[in-house]
Amino acid sequence: MAEPVIVCKGLSKIYDTLEGGTVRALDRIALEIREGELLAVVGPSGCGKSTLLKIFAGLLPKSEGEVSLRGTPVAGPRRDIGVVFQDAVMLPWRTVLDNAMLPADVQDLDRAAYLPRALALLDLVGLKGFEGKYPFELSGGMQQRVAITRALVHDPAVLLMDEPFGALDAMTREQMNLELQRIWLESRKTVLFITHSIPEAVFLGDRVVVMTPRPGRIAEVIEVGHPRPRSLEIMATPEFGRRTAHIRQLLNAGGAID
Ligand SMILES: Nc1ncnc2c1ncn2[C@@H]1O[C@H](COP(=O)(O)OP(=O)(O)O)[C@@H](O)[C@H]1O
Ligand SMILES: [Mg+2]
Repeated sequence: MAEPVIVCKGLSKIYDTLEGGTVRALDRIALEIREGELLAVVGPSGCGKSTLLKIFAGLLPKSEGEVSLRGTPVAGPRRDIGVVFQDAVMLPWRTVLDNAMLPADVQDLDRAAYLPRALALLDLVGLKGFEGKYPFELSGGMQQRVAITRALVHDPAVLLMDEPFGALDAMTREQMNLELQRIWLESRKTVLFITHSIPEAVFLGDRVVVMTPRPGRIAEVIEVGHPRPRSLEIMATPEFGRRTAHIRQLLNAGGAID
């Protein structure tokens, strides 16, 4: 099997609080993200999901343990990752294309070399014809498509997504789940997808990491065997129901309410 893209061992995070105390947000997390997989992480609000993602991205220092990306320890912000957050942060004065090109501009990369890639990615995410539009002209789902394009434009080793569809209405969210699956099937990027929705995690994930409430630990890692492409109809199958019920049980056992 190929070398995992991200490996973490004994990873803990302890925050200092403003009151002078400490909060243990992550407790001895051991996890591997395999090359080309879509790994979903599900857990209740406050269990440390965003903390985990920020540490993987090099945006936050860890307290204990080891994290490496493609065999190199993560010690600060890295160029070879792409991140999508819940709110698609767009620069309002830039067009869709220029927002997508932002990493190339910020990292001072050769614009001409990245332009064809940005255009191809906008096509891939279903935004062909919208290149010259401005963010205010786009729906929330379309803005997240731009955010995905932007996160992929510099061809990162891994795409880290923190509840990327959490702010969308239920129907748009389902459509974006289908879209993400399609984008992933075509690009075969390694993806870490964080969510607090159990069905979303089971629908999207090759594996689902279930986290306990704070301090975040891994309760179980579940292999999801559904073949792809998966349609939304699988959510009505007994197998899907059994999986989501099992995860809900794990979360409830940990004292969490979904
Ligand atoms: N900068 C911070 N200082 C202190 N505590 C924090 C900070 N950031 C997050 N926390 C705490 O750490 C825990 C995990 O937060 P977070 O990673 O945002 O959880 P999640 O993304 O799963 O909702 C929460 O209890 C939160 O209040
Ligand atoms: Mg979060």
